[in-house]
Amino acid sequence: MARITAGVATSHVPAIGAALDLGKSGSDYWQPLFDGYDWSKKWIASEKPDVVVLIYNDHASAFSLAVLPTFAIGCAESYAIADEGFGPRPVPEVIGHADLACHITENLILDEFDMTIINEMTVDHGLTVPLSLMFGQPEAWPVKVVPIAVNVVEYPQPTGNRCFELGKALRRAIRSYDEDLNVQVWGTGGMSHQLQGPRAGLINSAFDHEFFDQLVQDPDTLKKVPHIEYLREAGSEGIEMIMWLIMRGALGKKVKELYRFYHVPASNTAVGHLILKPSK
Ligand code: DHB
Ligand code: FE
Repeated sequence: MARITAGVATSHVPAIGAALDLGKSGSDYWQPLFDGYDWSKKWIASEKPDVVVLIYNDHASAFSLAVLPTFAIGCAESYAIADEGFGPRPVPEVIGHADLACHITENLILDEFDMTIINEMTVDHGLTVPLSLMFGQPEAWPVKVVPIAVNVVEYPQPTGNRCFELGKALRRAIRSYDEDLNVQVWGTGGMSHQLQGPRAGLINSAFDHEFFDQLVQDPDTLKKVPHIEYLREAGSEGIEMIMWLIMRGALGKKVKELYRFYHVPASNTAVGHLILKPSK
């Protein structure tokens, strides 16, 4: 059967992708950020996951206000890189795992999570920057990806509790897949950041650290945090952090923290990164 071997959370700031693509990752500004992922790159090279179920949000690239699914799952064979205004990032195309994705979709929907099925879409920085942070700049990504896109860009977003429950259902779905696959679940976005308005540049390190701790130790309390608290404390885009709860729900009750990294700033954003292992 497929095994969920680890959970990874990371911010997905687009400027990180640009820094790598433009050869600036060794600059004084960016080096400390990329250094924070050195351990993770070595770890994942030895873990060798077959598939990453990658929870992220689209930033009006594949979707728009015309159609905005709350939870959507990619069942395609591959995903082209989105053009976010400067041409597509020069990174490999993302290869899907259509069979596992269809199995997950069937199980989630029969488990009463009404996923939107996507058979064709492009993927933006929300998905590609986490791949770059974990794998660097390979010729081809060393994993297949099942993308799960969450609406965090327009009210009403799903609740933290619903995200956590989706993670639990995702765990059931993945673990019932009849092939021995090493699967990781990644949650992306965050941490505190606000990109516009009078509070642009808002960072709340105390909130971010409390979020890390509760995600690891007490997700049942964390899942009850209402949207308004994310907006007030972590800024308007800080609400992306609800996607980490899906990853956490997929890991089961107890987890072991393998690695944590926090860095400010990257662009206008606090960068957070966590690696968790399910514990028996
Ligand atoms: C930025 C965009 C994001 O989607 C994000 O999560 C963080 C930062 C930005 O434009 O700087
Ligand atoms: Fe984002």
